[in-house]
Amino acid sequence: MPEPHSNGLTRRQVLGIGGAFGLLTTTGLATAATLARRPATTGGQLRSTAQLPPPYQVPLPLPAVLKPVSTDGAADRYEIVQRETTAEILPGLRTPLWTYGGSFPGPTIEARRGRPVTVTHHNELPVPTAVHLHGGRTPAESDGYPTDLVLPAGWPQAPHTMPGMAGTDGHGGGMGAMTDPRAVTTRLKRDYTFPNDQRPTLLWYHDHRMDFTAPAIWRGLAGLYIVRDDAEDALGLPAGPREIPLMIADRAFTADGALTYPSLDPTLRERPGVTEPYVAGVLGDVILVNGAPWPVHETDAARHRLRLLNASNARHYELEARTEDGRRLDLVRIGADQGLLAAPVTHQSLPMAPAERHDLVVDFASAPVGSLVRIVNRLGSGRTRDVMAFRIARPATDDSRIPPALTTDLPDWHREDAVRTRDFAFRAGRMNGGHGWLIGGRPFDPARPDVTVPLGDTEIWRLIADVHHPVHLHLVGFRILTRGGKPPLPHDAGLKDTVSLRPGESAEIITRFDGYRGRYLFHCHNAEHEDMGMMANLEVV
Ligand code: C2O
Ligand code: CU
Ligand code: CU
Repeated sequence: MPEPHSNGLTRRQVLGIGGAFGLLTTTGLATAATLARRPATTGGQLRSTAQLPPPYQVPLPLPAVLKPVSTDGAADRYEIVQRETTAEILPGLRTPLWTYGGSFPGPTIEARRGRPVTVTHHNELPVPTAVHLHGGRTPAESDGYPTDLVLPAGWPQAPHTMPGMAGTDGHGGGMGAMTDPRAVTTRLKRDYTFPNDQRPTLLWYHDHRMDFTAPAIWRGLAGLYIVRDDAEDALGLPAGPREIPLMIADRAFTADGALTYPSLDPTLRERPGVTEPYVAGVLGDVILVNGAPWPVHETDAARHRLRLLNASNARHYELEARTEDGRRLDLVRIGADQGLLAAPVTHQSLPMAPAERHDLVVDFASAPVGSLVRIVNRLGSGRTRDVMAFRIARPATDDSRIPPALTTDLPDWHREDAVRTRDFAFRAGRMNGGHGWLIGGRPFDPARPDVTVPLGDTEIWRLIADVHHPVHLHLVGFRILTRGGKPPLPHDAGLKDTVSLRPGESAEIITRFDGYRGRYLFHCHNAEHEDMGMMANLEVV
């Protein structure tokens, strides 16, 4: 195996395919050498040919909060039209996008705990879609199962007889979509109902169509969804303009401003997958925050609540807040994927895998007025080291606080509570004669039961990875019991829905499968891995 290099292709081979299909698949286990090398991320990086702006020039956009079309005593109703549009992402260029409601990110939905939301999604895109609310405790019929498609106008037939699918030499996923007897498709639109009967947190909604999730998210099908409740509101955390959602995602652009993505079938209609150098994951060389490249946000010299989401397909970050005089500001982590921690945890830097969220408080009071606080990605190189910056525009009074106790409603599952333990290996493999990503040696098949669990059971899952795999469960939050056979890391604290397994690493998680019965999923949230087989059924009965 070649040594890591700064040279693009060699490095790509090492980080991606070399690691995945070489050593690890033949031994099936991590070696000491792999662990020592521990590449920063898994995937191949695209190179933009567009002229890119210097960092910290484009203002940070704040996604608009969607207005309900109706509210009554019982529920809020929203409408979202999924449609193509163009937007100015790089200064002076237009980027064609697929959007929720005409913007990327899509509009933010603000929900209250216990108050249901119904979103009617209209599909005006050229392909079928499925909407999933990531981190939502959602009844199965609204969870966006990958074959529960919303068909656009003019889509010839139901997907199980979709022309072209049977004849492709794509992988088993496409064949699976063809033969899923339980798929519930709709035409033109679909109502998704979210009870919001869950802890307050930052969720996100994104496309989840079988085989084509990665390119659909890449083109713009992602938006934020925030659940709040009175207890959290009463904590006195930074709020209003000092509470800022930050959706971080990498992309790459052609000279005319279009997004680059190495799809085998750029129409995203028939043949899934990406070209060979990118099968381990697609990385961009432009870092977008809320859809803007390396943006800057002018703000007060005060505490801010930063609600971070890594919406990248495959890129991992390790974030720091750096002042101009080289200090690192404390990142006070108050919440995880599934809401508030019991107590704040202070970090100097924080790793963030695809689909993970961090709820942070950062105090800018010590930064001189007029200076920049940069958010830096320690895992990046060159321009992917920069993420965004805050320009400290004015002194300010600050009556926010970080209570030493944040919540007492965290589930407290113990090892003894588990009625069974399951093992899952997340590894590269062969699938229909091509590259695949497998769970327990098998690629996703919607028709195959993988895990069946009685409602209310508590289980321990032991997960092991070859390369980076951020493993996500639908429906439930979980706690991380161990990582690499040792106690979990500080950033593993709290209730999670995505656990980042690093190369060769294992983790044990514990959860109780409650909420709803029905057909759910668990999968790798490296979106390319997910599309190339690394997904399985989770049936709650
Ligand atoms: Cu964020 Cu099944 O996904
Ligand atoms: Cu999810
Ligand atoms: Cu993966």
